[in-house]
Amino acid sequence: PAVVRQAASPRVPVAVSHRGAAGHAPENTIAGIETARELGAAVVEVDVQRTADGELVLMHDATLTRTTDVREVFPDKDSYEVGDLTLEEIRELDAGSWFSPSFEGERVPTLEEALERLEELELGLFLEIKEPERHPGIEEDVADELRDHGDRLHGSTPEGERALVVQSFDWEVVRRSHDLLPSVPHALLGRVPENRIAEFTWAEMINPEHTSIDASYVEQVHRHGLETMPYTVNERSDMDAVLNRGVDGFITDYVDTAQEAIADF
Ligand code: G3P
Ligand code: CA
Repeated sequence: PAVVRQAASPRVPVAVSHRGAAGHAPENTIAGIETARELGAAVVEVDVQRTADGELVLMHDATLTRTTDVREVFPDKDSYEVGDLTLEEIRELDAGSWFSPSFEGERVPTLEEALERLEELELGLFLEIKEPERHPGIEEDVADELRDHGDRLHGSTPEGERALVVQSFDWEVVRRSHDLLPSVPHALLGRVPENRIAEFTWAEMINPEHTSIDASYVEQVHRHGLETMPYTVNERSDMDAVLNRGVDGFITDYVDTAQEAIADF
């Protein structure tokens, strides 16, 4: 179990760049990861799912329709869930044009490609296991991939802490991932009720939606020895508000504004 904290975190809060750099570039792409680096991010959040042939790729939604041209490329398919297409098919898709024509031709990356680019750019990673109920056992595939590549990631702090965090809204999946990767920090997404926080002291973090927590909630999390980095904080006034509640960082589409807010805090 984690050591009980006596005080709020003394460390500088971390700005986690959401879905790559979702305010500036198509989400969950290599261009997004590169943009996060250009904006000065130290750590990036992305979402992982599994293709029909068992490959891990970055994608937020259950289906490919919002962020790719899958309907035009494969007009005859009945369903466009990530798990309905093979990696080869998904590689044909344009994952950039929906965001801006300047990103035309951007591809859906594999987790392996993303890990390699993150390593090259010396970035840390918050990896969200997305829609796990559609991809039974995905946490085992993710653990295998992270064992191969994840330990080369760089930290979100000079000490290398939080270089890699695995998170999910499915707390059972977080638990299983933690058992597979006991040395990797894990985060529960969503608001764990105060009276249940003690059940999760094996985790490193609880990351709720930012409007769902107040200073007293943050204090409760810290008292149990965990950290909290709420999502998705995009307005400068909300950034200032969560910092004032004592969070250890926050997840944002606008890492540039976030760093200004943290510097001014
Ligand atoms: O990192 C947490 C945040 O990404 C959760 O929301 O929907 O953007 O995956 P969502
Ligand atoms: Ca996410």
